[in-house]
Amino acid sequence: MRALAFLTVAFSVSHYVHSARILGLFPHTGKSHQMVFEPLLRRLAERGHHVTTVSFFPLKNPPANYTDVSLEGIANIGVETMDLGFYEQPRPLIGYFGVERILKQVREFYPLADMALNVCRKLVNWPALTEALKKDYDLVLVENFNSDCMLGLVHVYGINAPTVALLSSGMMPWSPERVGVSDNPSYVATLSTNLLDRMTFVERLENTFVQLYFKWWYRYDIQLKEQEVLEKHFGRKITDLSDLARNTSLFLLNTFFALNGVKPLLPGVVEVGGMHLDPNRKTIPPHIEKFLNESAEGVVLFSFGSLIKTASIPKYREEIIVTALSKLKQRVIWKYEDSGEDGTIIGNIMRVRWIPQLELLNHRKVVAFIAHGGLLGMTEAISAGKPMLVVPFFGDQPQNAATAEAAGLAKVLNYAELTEQSLLEGLRSVLSAEMRLSARRASKIWHDRQTNPLDTAVYWVERVLRWGPQSPLHSGSKHLSFHEYTLLDVAATLLAALILVILIIHYFIFTLIPRSLSFSGKKKIH
Ligand SMILES: *[C@@H]1O[C@H](CO)[C@@H](O)[C@H](O)[C@H]1NC(C)=O
Repeated sequence: MRALAFLTVAFSVSHYVHSARILGLFPHTGKSHQMVFEPLLRRLAERGHHVTTVSFFPLKNPPANYTDVSLEGIANIGVETMDLGFYEQPRPLIGYFGVERILKQVREFYPLADMALNVCRKLVNWPALTEALKKDYDLVLVENFNSDCMLGLVHVYGINAPTVALLSSGMMPWSPERVGVSDNPSYVATLSTNLLDRMTFVERLENTFVQLYFKWWYRYDIQLKEQEVLEKHFGRKITDLSDLARNTSLFLLNTFFALNGVKPLLPGVVEVGGMHLDPNRKTIPPHIEKFLNESAEGVVLFSFGSLIKTASIPKYREEIIVTALSKLKQRVIWKYEDSGEDGTIIGNIMRVRWIPQLELLNHRKVVAFIAHGGLLGMTEAISAGKPMLVVPFFGDQPQNAATAEAAGLAKVLNYAELTEQSLLEGLRSVLSAEMRLSARRASKIWHDRQTNPLDTAVYWVERVLRWGPQSPLHSGSKHLSFHEYTLLDVAATLLAALILVILIIHYFIFTLIPRSLSFSGKKKIH
């Protein structure tokens, strides 16, 4: 018994990972993306690992064992860069079968290719990164978004360590085959659509087209071009980036099914949505706190997120919004860049430059949230149990809005259909007692998990550190070609066999039998 206990202890101790060397690679410029990964990187360092993070957002107060490699200067970072005037362009005339929606999705993804390639061309020549890549690591964390340039660099510098992909969203259309998780478009909605898991024929058509298109687009407009950039720079052939991508051990997704809908998972696809929620509360600035506490009917929080520049909203739209909001009993706090230092007050509305969003959503006076459907805001709202009116714009926002509505804590309002009346109606339904109750229930369901998301993420990262390729977490489907995966070869064989059987039966019935009948008939005559 004692020997057994000793063995157990020895076994668990020997597989505890001590201060592993972890390299985190984050070549995307969106600040909201990094906000998801930062708490995990910090926590890994706090647990004694040596973390080297390559990103556009070096930490202001890094923990011990933490090294930042800055990419600042490679490209402009994505904060308040999205102009709302973009959504005023005349819409194409083709409105049938979701064609207009498809074109919108295609157009929105388009700039991601140039962004990826511009960054990749500079990464190959970025001395601080080169230095970092010359060292040894036990594990590589890499953002899976619009680029595989980093995978190529890791390979070129001979870093032989398991790879964990981090996403600040759900799976990108080009992610599932890397780990072999099902993304059958008959029921798995593509991230850019506003579809759920039950689709009509036309919706399945849209979903299938968009999914296949984006896989193809990613391969030809990004991956192969990055391959070219790398091969040109290093002057030699490099393993195909798609093969390197298929070597990913684990995917951590910034989703959780209770908010983002149930999708197929695998041991190597783990949902850690909510891991960015910082338990250390920030303080709410005094002028905002005062505004909150002096409201009798509660406050509606209004933010279009970090990427959209709210001040770029066309005047007529702003007037619609202000008129509608001023008819509310509640007060409104609106994140709006061009505001005074202590906020600008217009009637019941206070405009502020930047808001501590999570703290405000958790504030007892905040009763609802007008949001754009960014995943972080949605996650914060469900965590706080506050109902939302969502006006989605781009990327995964339409999808996030749709799933939040299905989860019972949101109403969706189309920006193109935003009028004083639709805004007020939407707000009244979001502020109703039923909706507040429903949001609180959704929140409880969302919080109900075995472990909190940050601990879950840490566990899985360390599990990969412990076992690496010895404990595969993917399915065999990542090794299949398209026709094998979709069973087109089997279907073709079955179809051929079926046709053969029909031909044989046909032959017997219509050729053999009538002939023998007529033959016997002839015999009789003779
Ligand atoms: C795949 O990853 C493992 C480490 O997990 C490594 O040993 C192997 O060389 C990698 N294969 C390729 C093609 O990069």
